[in-house]
Amino acid sequence: WHGWRGIIEEYRDRLPVSGTTPVVTLREGGTPLVPAQVLSERTGCEVHLKVEGANPTGSFKDRGMTMAISAAKEAGAKAVICASTGNTSASAAAYAVRAGMVCAVLVPQGKIALGKMGQALVHGAKILQVDGNFDDCLTLARGLSEKYPVALVNSVNPARIQGQKTAAFEIVDMLGDAPDIHVLPVGNAGNITAYWKGYKEYAAPFADSEPRASRTPRMWGFQASGSAPIVRGEPVKEPSTIATAIRIGNPASWTFAEQARDESGGFIDEVTDRQILAAYRLLAAQEGVFVEPASAASVAGLLKAAEQGLVDPGQRIVCTVTGNGLKDPDWAVAGAPQPVVVPVDADAAAVRLGLV
Ligand code: F0G
Repeated sequence: WHGWRGIIEEYRDRLPVSGTTPVVTLREGGTPLVPAQVLSERTGCEVHLKVEGANPTGSFKDRGMTMAISAAKEAGAKAVICASTGNTSASAAAYAVRAGMVCAVLVPQGKIALGKMGQALVHGAKILQVDGNFDDCLTLARGLSEKYPVALVNSVNPARIQGQKTAAFEIVDMLGDAPDIHVLPVGNAGNITAYWKGYKEYAAPFADSEPRASRTPRMWGFQASGSAPIVRGEPVKEPSTIATAIRIGNPASWTFAEQARDESGGFIDEVTDRQILAAYRLLAAQEGVFVEPASAASVAGLLKAAEQGLVDPGQRIVCTVTGNGLKDPDWAVAGAPQPVVVPVDADAAAVRLGLV
């Protein structure tokens, strides 16, 4: 077997698994690190995109889910539950299938992208739409997992963070060192927590082998303006943003995100929906990378910081783009002209295409 084996087998010595842990995997991880030409030109830096939409269910959640579902299976769980803005539920549902488990999903009513709902449905999850937001769903999921025999697989489950930290390992392995700056969208704040943990672990001497990276990056996180509790310094009761994946008013890993920010010498700021959509279109139209709106918050943030003069030229920067654009194509189609209809006629088609 010469292919990528999934994050548990690739990084087994750095993860809390044993020889008897049943590995539930869809061969997640090993995602592309794509040089971003236009962003590099605009910032005068060397910018790379960590394209997490290339994971099996189309988002970074798969890294955490292979760990969380494997741990749940090892503990004998028959059912798992999560609250979700969509991607966690899609991932949990798929990995639960692999593990032969029941998957229960709580989503905010009417506020998750259709593609993600379709994934949870087709993988056979039991879905409840909650009359509330993500934060309400998480409260409910926590309560259910405390009272009933069902394992919680949100990022408050430490196995999730362990799995997601492997994205930082891959970046250091690919670049040969840590970048100067790492930029992420922030929602429930699990992922920024995980990356920081990963970078710190990889920078530290490990067993008898030589230390790999001597440095850690500054961590830059970006929330959507209508859902920016960490920036405001208080929970947002009614979070709003077109980036539904990060429509979260009271992040579970809030203090860990602040630690990542402070220990790394970084910051957490906000970007408007307009800035998110501009970055979303730039990524698709100029870099050839189609992401979902929440993912574009990292790139929108980098561009904002560059405009503010906060980006010194010559630095190496990685932006994680967290989810695949196909999950939420509405924003790709919205406002775009309908393609015209032509007869089966080469000359007519040529005129329409501007070839003559
Ligand atoms: N980007 C995407 C595409 C996401 O789905 C999420 C979170 C984030 C960014 C933010 O990551 O929460 O670790 O700070 N989605 C969760 C979900 C909340 O339910 O799918 P975070």
